[in-house]
Amino acid sequence: MASAAASLLARLSRAIGRESAQNELRWMRQALQDPSNRIHPTARTVEDMVERRIRGEPLQYILGSQPFGPLHLAVRSPVLIPRPETEDWALTLAHRIRSQAPPARPLRILDLCTGTGCIPLLLCRALPPGWAHATGVDVSEDAVALAKENARLNDVPLSIPTRHASSRERRANAFTPVRADLMQPDVVRQAGLDPPYDVITSNPPYIPKAEYDRLDASVRDYEDVRALLGDPVGAVPATLPEAERDKGLSFYHRIAELVRDEDLLGPDGMLVLEVGDGQADDVANILKRMTHLQQIELWNDPWGKARVVFARR
Ligand SMILES: C[S@@+](CC[C@H](N)C(=O)[O-])C[C@H]1O[C@@H](n2cnc3c(N)ncnc32)[C@H](O)[C@@H]1O
Repeated sequence: MASAAASLLARLSRAIGRESAQNELRWMRQALQDPSNRIHPTARTVEDMVERRIRGEPLQYILGSQPFGPLHLAVRSPVLIPRPETEDWALTLAHRIRSQAPPARPLRILDLCTGTGCIPLLLCRALPPGWAHATGVDVSEDAVALAKENARLNDVPLSIPTRHASSRERRANAFTPVRADLMQPDVVRQAGLDPPYDVITSNPPYIPKAEYDRLDASVRDYEDVRALLGDPVGAVPATLPEAERDKGLSFYHRIAELVRDEDLLGPDGMLVLEVGDGQADDVANILKRMTHLQQIELWNDPWGKARVVFARR
C-alpha cells in the first residue's frame, strides 16, 4: 500500500515537481472521498487521475470542479476553466456594485461569452437578494449546458422571474444562459436580448493567433479553441482597422459595435471587459473611438498587470 502511494507520488513528481504532486494527490484523494461533494470527479480512482495528469490534462478537469469566489463550479473540457484573475475582478465588481445605494429594481446584467457562467453566477451570489437578474450568452452548447448546471449547483434560480412570480421568487437573484453567436449580425434577436442593460461584463476570447500557437499543450489540447482565439477565422469584423488586426481584439470591437448600434448599455450602465496582458490601452481606445463611454478605468490583476477595462458614460 505504502509503496503504491510512493510510486504514484514519484511518477507525478517527475511530471509536475514534488511539491505540486504532494498537493495535487491530496486534493485528488479528498475529491474521491468527500461524501458531501456535489460535484463528482471525472475519474474513479487516484491511479486514473494521476495517469491523466501525467498526460497533461488540467487538474480541474480531472477533479471536475473549481472554486470561484463563493462558488463551487463544475468544469468539463472543452469549456474554459475560470482563471484567478477573472475571479479577482468579478469580486471587485461585486464589491463596487454593493457599495452603491440599493437599486430600485434588480440590476439587469448581461455577460457576453459566459463559459461556465462564473461571472454572472458570482454576481448573483455576492449581491444581496433581489439585486441581480443576469443573462449569459455563449456560442458553445457545452458552455451553456455547464452554465445551467452551475446555476443549479450554486442554488441560483435559472430563469428571470416573470411579473406573475411570487414576491419571494422576485426577490431572488437569477441567471439565464442562452446560446447565440456574438459575431452574427442579428445576435440581439437570436439571443432574445432585451436592452438596455445596467451592467455588461465579458471575458471574451483574446489570444492572438501567434501566441495561441505557442500555448502549452495542456491548454490547446483540452480547452476549446473558440474560448481562446481572439480573431477567429471567418469572424473578424470587416470594419476592424488594419492596425488592430491580428492582435486578438475582434471581440472588443464587436462588443463596442453592439453597445453603439444596439443601445445595449443603459445611460448609467457600466461595461467591464477582461483583456489580455498588453491589450488594455488598445481596448480603451476602441471604446473611446466607437462608443459614448468616455470614463475609462484600467484595473490591475493581483500581479500588477492591467487586465480589466471598466467604462461608463
Ligand atoms: C475566454 S472564455 C471565457 C469564459 C468565462 N466567461 C470565463 O471567464 O471563464 C470565452 C468564451 O467565449 C465563447 N465564445 C467564443 N466565440 C463566441 C461567439 N462568437 N459568440 C458567443 N460566445 C463566444 C467561448 O465559447 C468561451 O466560452
